[in-house]
Amino acid sequence: MAALLCEIEPGDEVVLPSFTYVATANAFLLRGATLRFGDIRADTLNLDEQALRSLITPRTRVVVPVHYAGVGAATEEMQSMTRPHGIDIVEDAAQGLLASRNGRALGTAGELGVISFHATKNISCGQGGALLVNDPRFDERASILSEEGTDRIRFRQGTVTSYQWHDIGSAFQLSEMAAAMLLAQLQAASFITMRRNEILTSYSKALSPLAQKGLLQLPVVPGNCLSNGHIMYVILPDRETRHRLSGDLRALGIEAVGHFMPLHASPMGQRLGYRSGDLPVTEDLASRLLRLPCWPDLSDVDIERVVNALETCLTAGSD
Ligand SMILES: Cc1ncc(COP(=O)(O)O)c(C=O)c1O
Repeated sequence: MAALLCEIEPGDEVVLPSFTYVATANAFLLRGATLRFGDIRADTLNLDEQALRSLITPRTRVVVPVHYAGVGAATEEMQSMTRPHGIDIVEDAAQGLLASRNGRALGTAGELGVISFHATKNISCGQGGALLVNDPRFDERASILSEEGTDRIRFRQGTVTSYQWHDIGSAFQLSEMAAAMLLAQLQAASFITMRRNEILTSYSKALSPLAQKGLLQLPVVPGNCLSNGHIMYVILPDRETRHRLSGDLRALGIEAVGHFMPLHASPMGQRLGYRSGDLPVTEDLASRLLRLPCWPDLSDVDIERVVNALETCLTAGSD
């Protein structure tokens, strides 16, 4: 819907990180956009706002910051580059519900923002999402596109006696059953977010001795960001250690896996003209990142077990 609202056409350029889920890219590729992948910052793993300047061309229509792990990308800094050229920002806040940057909820600073309620997210109804329309110029069209291109909303409001087809669109809305499940999840949202943040704090405290020894790096949450505890990850010294640890932990019954395979280096990314080596920070960090178990029912004992296992496996390998 965001790509439709921005009226993306073949040849329009969209800047996005390669370290993201395929949905970020597909939404715009489906409208014929040319994707311009930018590298990420080494601290937050979000699109590097310094790298953005060199990616903007006269054909750029949209920039998509992705808020990885619920930690805010530098949307405001990006806006100082996009606004003078009439470029829209579509925040991919799929992972960002109830997180904020500079006191502002993720997804609410760009012209549009998207939230995911997929089964993997903090607040879920299995499949579905929300579009945050922050620029009133999109208001009316957004309601039409989301109702298969009809003005059904006016019919419901009683301002027309029948509704008609006005535009392209699709059945973008949640089913009532999914919405009922989402309501229950939203009622528990503060608890879920608080518990996830507690889990991340416990992990970080317990893992800090290993970080001090240089055996791993912990996630960075800048002082102006409040995270929602979406993902606990560590960055290991090299890809081989990540691979070995993932297998060793699995053998102990602990699921610990990497995350996004950089899109530009995928078979599809190569068809779009990208090559391995094009985005060095993305490739390096994606190859060393290991996610640890993180969900609200994870107990303190579970965390201790994961930390002990990680320490044993790491130090066994470094002997
Ligand atoms: C960064 C990011 N963008 C987009 C998506 C897609 O969300 P959905 O599956 O709700 O379309 C996800 C979810 O996996 C994601 O993590």
